[in-house]
Amino acid sequence: MLDSFIKILKILPPELAHSFSIKVLKYLSFNYDKINDPILAQHLMGMDFPNPVGLAAGFDKNGEVIRSMFSLGFGFIEVGTITPLPQKGNPKPRVFRLGEDNAIINNLGFNNKGSKKIKKNIVKIRNSLTGNKIIGINLGKNKSSLNSIDDYLFGMEKLGNLASYITINISSPNTDGLRDLQLRGNIENLIKKIIVKREEIESINKKPVFIKISPDLNEDQLRDIALISLANNIDGLILTNTTTSRPDNLLSSFKKFKGGLSGKPLFETSNNILKKMYNLTNGQVTLIGVGGISNGSDCYEKIKSGASLIQLYTALIYSGPSLIFKINNELIDLIKTDGYKNISEVVGKSV
Ligand SMILES: Cc1cc2nc3c(=O)[nH]c(=O)nc-3n(C[C@H](O)[C@H](O)[C@H](O)COP(=O)(O)O)c2cc1C
Repeated sequence: MLDSFIKILKILPPELAHSFSIKVLKYLSFNYDKINDPILAQHLMGMDFPNPVGLAAGFDKNGEVIRSMFSLGFGFIEVGTITPLPQKGNPKPRVFRLGEDNAIINNLGFNNKGSKKIKKNIVKIRNSLTGNKIIGINLGKNKSSLNSIDDYLFGMEKLGNLASYITINISSPNTDGLRDLQLRGNIENLIKKIIVKREEIESINKKPVFIKISPDLNEDQLRDIALISLANNIDGLILTNTTTSRPDNLLSSFKKFKGGLSGKPLFETSNNILKKMYNLTNGQVTLIGVGGISNGSDCYEKIKSGASLIQLYTALIYSGPSLIFKINNELIDLIKTDGYKNISEVVGKSV
């Protein structure tokens, strides 16, 4: 039954397949969350992660399938990107499967139901979850917004108290001008205001704040972000979002479409950013490695390159629901083979 459903999804156009999956996942629960090996568990930034594998932002933009995604075995789930007001995003078609490359190009442009509706979804699901589940809330800005920073502050005010951690997404390539927020003066201004806002609101003043950055930054820009993050006690950096670059070896003809590339071809690029950031921050900021992870050894490599946690999205589309269970089992084997007692001992070992 599940196999035939997955076969159907693979023939549907990607965005239709995704909305169909979300509809079905609301009512599905899996049994892939039974790995509770302490070798994978970490206490980071006040949160207890049962394993290091998280769902990257963009899959559950509206917080509709959180319960189902935990049942796949994820250690944490990031909902969003959420903008203050609902918006439709860019014109369709805007998601392309690059099957030969195990990749996706998306030019969605923060299509989401907006903070009010999504807040209701998260409240409902949070109340029905058992145990202490880690849910990150990824915030963005509306396309029509006149003041980008205000949109992030609004998101913190409205949704921050529901989040285990808050992600400030300034790296999607599909909203004009968004990535400019990563530039020195802009990011400094943004981060300072975010930290002040966090102090002001009692219910969120202990919540970790992560910044999600692009893989298309140069050395100087990475250094600026590292210094500003250290100076303002940013808790975590998510490395990375999708890339606008197109590696020469891409095979699929869909590579010509505009948008952010994710999946296998992003692995090396995002890993290089991760290693550089680990060096620049001297291990003082928690790093979350994202980009092109499709198995346990990819995950292990990200951790050795400096990530304490990892996230994935694209591989889930290609590999199906048992992927996270497999990755966690592979990770346990890799850690034991190398003689470590806990995954945290692996962090940064190859940098
Ligand atoms: C269809 C699609 C939609 C995405 N939407 C978002 C988003 O709304 N916010 C965000 O921060 N990242 C978004 N991402 C980026 C992912 O979170 C992740 O950073 C990127 O895909 C690299 O990981 P992967 O190679 O495992 O997919 C999206 C990715 C895809 C493929």
